[in-house]
Order: sequence, then C-alpha cells, then structure tokens
Amino acid sequence: MSSRRNVWSTKFGFYLAAIGSACGLGNLWRFPYVVGENGGGAFVLLYMSFALVVGLPLLISELSFGQSRKKSILSVFSDLSKKANKKHIVWIARSAVWLSLIALSYYAVISGWVLHFLMQFMVGIYKKDPLYASHSLRTLMENGLLQVGLASVHLLVTLIVIMKGVQEGIEKWVGYLMPVFGLLLAILMFKSLSLPSATEALRFLFYPNFSELTYSSMIQAVGHVLFTLSVGFGVMVTYGSYMNEDQHAPSAGFRVTTIDTMISLGAGLLIFPVVLAASNIRLSDPALLFEALPRFLAEMSGGSIFGIAFFVCLYVAALGASIGLFEVIVSNLKEQTKLSRSSACWAAGFVALVLAIAPALSSTAFEHVQWGGRGVLEALDAILINWLLPIVALGICVSFAYCVKEQELKDIFLDPEKQVSVILYPYWYFSIRYLAPGIIFVALMLQVIGLFSV
Ligand code: PHE
Repeated sequence: MSSRRNVWSTKFGFYLAAIGSACGLGNLWRFPYVVGENGGGAFVLLYMSFALVVGLPLLISELSFGQSRKKSILSVFSDLSKKANKKHIVWIARSAVWLSLIALSYYAVISGWVLHFLMQFMVGIYKKDPLYASHSLRTLMENGLLQVGLASVHLLVTLIVIMKGVQEGIEKWVGYLMPVFGLLLAILMFKSLSLPSATEALRFLFYPNFSELTYSSMIQAVGHVLFTLSVGFGVMVTYGSYMNEDQHAPSAGFRVTTIDTMISLGAGLLIFPVVLAASNIRLSDPALLFEALPRFLAEMSGGSIFGIAFFVCLYVAALGASIGLFEVIVSNLKEQTKLSRSSACWAAGFVALVLAIAPALSSTAFEHVQWGGRGVLEALDAILINWLLPIVALGICVSFAYCVKEQELKDIFLDPEKQVSVILYPYWYFSIRYLAPGIIFVALMLQVIGLFSV
C-alpha cells in the first residue's frame, strides 16, 4: 500500500494486512481477561454469536463501502451526508477517527508491555535464568516511566513504518510471521491443554453458565467483537479502499472473522489451563496474559526460546494492528487538511503519545485515580470499548443501512460470479438494518440499567 490511492499489490497482500489489523492484542491480551471478568462459557457463546451477527455484517459493510468509494471514512460519510441530506452523520465518521486515536494511544502502552517481556526473555537467556521473565511484571507495573518510554518506542516504530510507506515490507513480514505465530500458538495451546487443569479450563470456556452474566456482559461481548475485528474505527473502510476491484469484500470479511475468532479461542485455550492451575491470579486482571504466559514458559523446556519467538510474533501482531489505527488517522487527516503525509504522521504520533501518558502511569503516579475499582487504563478501555465504540459502530451501521439506496447496497454486495452472494445478501441486509443495530442498542440499554441497579 502506498500514500497514493493505490491497491494492494496482491489479493493475498490485502488479506495479510486486514488479518494483521484484526489479529492482535485484542485476541491474545484482551479476550482472555474479558472472558475471565464475565465468568467464561456463557460470555464466549455471546462473543461468538455476536461475531457472526454484528461483527461480520459490519466488517463487510466497512470493507465494501471503502472498496466501492475508494475513499476513507470521513470522505465516504461526507458524500453520504450530501446525498442523503443528513449533515450530522459526518460527526459519526469524525468520532470514529477520534476513537482510533484514543485506541492507538492505549494500545501503545500494552504493545510496550510486549516489548518489555520480549527483552526480559532475552535477558533471561543471557543470564541463563529461565525464571527471569516470569518475575518481571512487577518491575514493569512499578515503573511508570518505563511504560511511557516503551509506549514511545512503539509509537516511533509504527510512525517510521507508516511514514516510509513500507507497508509492502510489513505485509511480507506479517505474512511470513502469521503462520509461524499460528503454529506457535497451537504448540503452546496443546502443551497447556496437557496440564491437569485443562478439563476445568475447557469447562470454564465452553460450558455456558448464564448466571455468571451481568447487565454489562452483552455490551462487553459486542464491544470486544467490534474491537477485535477492527470495526467502528474506520480502519476497514480505509483498507477496503485499497482493495482490488475483483476482490469480493463479503468473502474477505468472512475469512478475516473466522481466523480472528479462531485465534481468540486459541488464546483462551492457552491461557486458562495455566491460570486455573495457579491459585493467585485474578481472572479479570488486564495483565492476565503477562501473568500467565511467562510462568508457563518458565516451566517448559526451551521455554525462553519459545518466549522470545512468541513475543516477537505478538509484537509484530501488535504492530500490524497499530499500523491500521495510525493509517486511518493519517489518511483521514490528509484527505481533510492540506497537511503532507509526514506532517500528518508526526501530528498523529505526538497526540497519541500525549494521550498514552495517563494509561501508562495508571499503576504508578495515577494509582489512586479509580472509577468503580478500575484504574485509568482499565477505565479508559471500558469507556472506549463498552461505550464509545458501540455507539459509533451503531451510527456507522445505521448510516450505511438507511442513507444508501437499496440498489447500491445490492451492487456493493452481489458478485455475479458468486452464486452464494445472492443467497447471503438478504441476511446481510437484514443484519445491518435490524439485527446488528438492535443488538447494539439493547446491549447499551442493559448496560445503562446495570448502572442504576447496583
Ligand atoms: N483488532 C485489533 C486487535 O484485536 C485492534 C484494532 C482495533 C486494530 C481497531 C485496528 C483498529 O488487537
């Protein structure tokens, strides 16, 4: 991909980038602790159902509109607003870009944690101490400046990649590393499933106990689906705009959703046997992945090497996701202002860094800033993903479904060469008009009710 409105060099290149944006810390870091927070199986069931009926239709819409209009979300929405004579909908697109900026900032903090563990595993090998990395979460949590520093390094790396327009190179990296990552995840998952606690973990993950759900579980599932599929930020509109004409966005959306969901479930199967075997890990701890994985690796033969390989892959996955977020900000900023690509990159990077300071200091300087038992990082995550993101995604969904003539929706979705698209069209149409907005709305309302019933 380049700064021109170009297309991905190959069909495969698009997949790699879209999968690179979707699969990231959301799957490995966020999914397990949100499942832990919501009691396991029933939540996983909600998550999988919403991936199908909310995430997938919305992902298809974003990709298709990007592909057919060849523009980023702000321009797509300003065209829509003119055509449908509804000026206010441009605000929805603006909010999506702001969301990307906020997400990029706190995503940078977690990516910094990944960098930290990667370094700790390397030091562990150097010191010939396999337990070294498993003790380092505390060091990280007690050092706010280190977290700010690591987040800055991550933002700088992302900025360099975006500015140099080396996404082509990154495509290849992500491309080569993704199968390796999948393989590593599978190996570790099977090892973890051989622990005695595996049965308990399988039961926890797949046996739905609906009494564990709370008023906010539904919106947490919706929010996580949107986040993990990178929907509601405008990212997939931008990626769609770089897609080849002959690619079928609905099939692409389906593949991305399937792979992304499988990776999340794999992460759950890796983490929970370890977590349930240890008595002192809080299941809803945002640092769950970083608590569990280094301990598990420390007990494995060759664990440090696995650790390095895993954290390199995880870092590349985090980079792929950050590139998506950064790209959406830069492409929209460039389309809307007269800024050059490099000025837009520096401006976005600077604001993201400033915004990253508070979450990076949430376990140190801002330790006492709490909302309902949540620190700054957790609260920011909850506000972004359980409130703002579903509201913006609802706006995007409704605008696509109701501000566009049905004939255009058909033109976008149907592929004369794919008979299956004719069968699936009514489901997609029904989902974006009724099902997805209905579910998001009900989930938001339940969350509001939950606020008053404590
Ligand atoms: N989907 C990414 C993940 O799961 C996060 C992300 C959100 C990336 C939005 C780009 C845009 O980690």
